[in-house]
Amino acid sequence: MRRFEGRVALVTGAARGIGRAIAVRLAEEGAAVALADRDEDGVVAAAAAIGAGAMPLACDVVDRASVDAAVSAVIARHGRLDVLVNNVGVSSGTAFEEIDDAAWREQAGPTLHGAVRCVQAALPHLLASPVGGAVVTIGSINGLAAFGDLVYSAAKAGLQSLNQNLAVLYSRRELAARGSSSRGIRFNLVAPGTIRTPAWTDGGPERMARLDRLDRLYPAGRVGEPEDIAAAVAFLASDDASWITGIVLPVDGGALTGPLSFD
Ligand SMILES: NC(=O)c1ccc[n+]([C@@H]2O[C@H](COP(=O)([O-])OP(=O)(O)OC[C@H]3O[C@@H](n4cnc5c(N)ncnc54)[C@H](O)[C@@H]3O)[C@@H](O)[C@H]2O)c1
Repeated sequence: MRRFEGRVALVTGAARGIGRAIAVRLAEEGAAVALADRDEDGVVAAAAAIGAGAMPLACDVVDRASVDAAVSAVIARHGRLDVLVNNVGVSSGTAFEEIDDAAWREQAGPTLHGAVRCVQAALPHLLASPVGGAVVTIGSINGLAAFGDLVYSAAKAGLQSLNQNLAVLYSRRELAARGSSSRGIRFNLVAPGTIRTPAWTDGGPERMARLDRLDRLYPAGRVGEPEDIAAAVAFLASDDASWITGIVLPVDGGALTGPLSFD
């Protein structure tokens, strides 16, 4: 499938894990991709591995000037932006009683406010997209049920509200009512279950042991791979989903189907 031929996509947190797999998938389907990450070496390596003109961008989503500069660089190179994937998310598992201001800022900041900054920076370009803009945000099943990790989960739940409200605010109908001829922007959110990424595999023996346990608990018989999420993101960003906006799509191997113990 070449659903993104002639289109330009920006993926945040794309140096590794899910973000990298999304960039690979969009590039495979013909997109000119820009990979943004605060890990400068990592994002250069990820873009080089993709080839096909993939563009690495050193970008920290907690810094507005950095986000604005990343979007400007994409526009300077390609003159358009059709797809934005908000993939950055930070979780530290801080116990509720220990959530101080720093913990809130360090997790909710990039996860929720980071996505706001990216949408704001990309907005005029997505509105100008001749094919209609598409934003896909990576949430989590933690935003949909009580799996603990409270700062992270609250930020992910916040992304769902953001997604829904923006889907209406920048819909073709609302824009037309404001006198704009823009095709509008579709906003959708993918809520992954446990995905085998470096966030788990680089976390030491305890995290690996937990991942092995989770592998057996998922109804699908395994935890997810980054490519499972990339496939869903590519669908929602493509014209195949042209009548889908404002939704939350769990991609979770069945985790939300019933009471599972994740301990
Ligand atoms: N892995 C899972 O089990 C899982 C489950 C549900 C949701 N998610 C979500 O999927 C997304 C990706 O997760 P992952 O497991 O691939 O993560 P990861 O930790 O493997 O990769 C995250 C990437 O984001 C980058 N990053 C972090 N903070 C940044 C910032 N401020 N600015 C720019 N880049 C920054 C990191 O450098 C890294 O390259 C996150 O939003 C995460 O919450 C992951």
